[in-house]
Amino acid sequence: MKRCIEVADIRECCQAWRRRGLSIALVPTMGFFHDGHLALMRRAKTLADRVVVSLFVNPIQFGPKEDLASYPRDLERDSALAAAAGVDALFIPTVSAMYGDGFETKVVLGALGQGLCGASRPGHFDGVATVVTKLFHIVAPDVAVFGEKDFQQLAIIRRMVADLDFNLRIVSQPIVRESDGLAMSSRNTYLTTEERQAATCLYRALVLAKTMAQRDERPTAAAIERTVRDSIEENAGFTVEYATVVDRASLAPAAKIDENCLLALAVRVGGRVRLIDNAPLFG
Ligand code: PAF
Repeated sequence: MKRCIEVADIRECCQAWRRRGLSIALVPTMGFFHDGHLALMRRAKTLADRVVVSLFVNPIQFGPKEDLASYPRDLERDSALAAAAGVDALFIPTVSAMYGDGFETKVVLGALGQGLCGASRPGHFDGVATVVTKLFHIVAPDVAVFGEKDFQQLAIIRRMVADLDFNLRIVSQPIVRESDGLAMSSRNTYLTTEERQAATCLYRALVLAKTMAQRDERPTAAAIERTVRDSIEENAGFTVEYATVVDRASLAPAAKIDENCLLALAVRVGGRVRLIDNAPLFG
């Protein structure tokens, strides 16, 4: 596996592959790999001749009070895992390589970036869209793979690719869960043992919401949201930031419960950790 730090090096590597007629899949990540990341890499391998994984903790998608400094990092472990997963090149740029002196141009999102996570993380999705745009330009992949856990991010990237005429395909990969249902996340490492045990309440709440939605007499979105919120907040230290039934395409709050609905969750644990999860209410 090739390891590239400089933009020029990964660009040259990808151009050489393209000259040989090889297709390229990109998996953008912030590292500290778990099985969810490895599933993205394995999926990417089925989609193209060569797989590039970018590993960059992108400072411009973190707010001033967020966990940029403490975000978990382990480059050597990540590198070994990526190589074992069959990744062809790992792109690990420095902050100055991505945002050099005088950097000031950003992708600014519309309504899709404002609600849900965007409401409590102003500017977050502009930062995501900006770095993803740069990665798309640098690597010029045929296809890019994103996880469904960050479903708002996924919807935003799809919108951006359509709106800005990027010439690539976006493929999504289902959420990978621990055996007790907790969605895998690099941020799970912030949880104490007790919080980790209690954190299964997010998954249980999603299952509860599904059961409610599929009853013969359909509940209102508000009833589902209230039940979910109460069931999570029974756990000491767990505060629901949002529990919202949305239309999975537009991300707008659902007017009625139907096959297009998805329940999206963001929960703060112990005031320090923020977990997100989601599940469709049907299927
Ligand atoms: O999902 C992530 O890990 C990040 O938001 C991404 C897409 C790599 C951009 O920094």
